[in-house]
Amino acid sequence: MPELIPVLSKKTIEEQIVGIARRISDDYQGCELVLVGVLKGAFIFLSDLVRHLTIPVKIDFIRAASYGSGMSSSGDLRLSADTEIDVKGKDVLIVEDIADTGLTLESLKKHITSLGAKTVKICALIDKQERRQTSVSIDYACCKVEKGFLVGYGLDYAENYRELPEVYHLKL
Ligand code: XMP
Ligand code: MG
Repeated sequence: MPELIPVLSKKTIEEQIVGIARRISDDYQGCELVLVGVLKGAFIFLSDLVRHLTIPVKIDFIRAASYGSGMSSSGDLRLSADTEIDVKGKDVLIVEDIADTGLTLESLKKHITSLGAKTVKICALIDKQERRQTSVSIDYACCKVEKGFLVGYGLDYAENYRELPEVYHLKL
């Protein structure tokens, strides 16, 4: 039986999101901010985050699939859905569930920059350092986790566990 070891509680997630939302609201005061959520993993994080912001934002999604049903990134970015809002001249904040090798976020940042965004920054629920292969900066990270494959709160393993309200380390 797979084992689920608690990593982030509801309370920790909520506290971190409140703090990050405050920073984002301060930093983007008076800006035309577009949040671009990375599907599917960021859907819960993004929806909790926006409800703590105190500035107006527009919301869009992008769908990157580099994982299949496995546990490691190929680094070969495939977009299965692109943004719909015209981000030209706008400030964009990519909202991702987890930065692991950093390859996906680095490619997404390049992609959104190529669409003419004025600024592109990154917000991730989890900044997982162990396998980082790029120097892409995670501008807003709720939680830093050293290692382990994590599930819950939007994160999946083979499409399972996304609905769990907390984050767990999955041991197969
Ligand atoms: P890279 O390696 O490109 O990967 O930074 C980022 C993408 O990989 C997924 N990922 C995970 N998904 N538990 C997950 O459910 C994890 O521990 C994990 N680590 C990486 C994630 O979807 C992200 O978009
Ligand atoms: Mg993802």
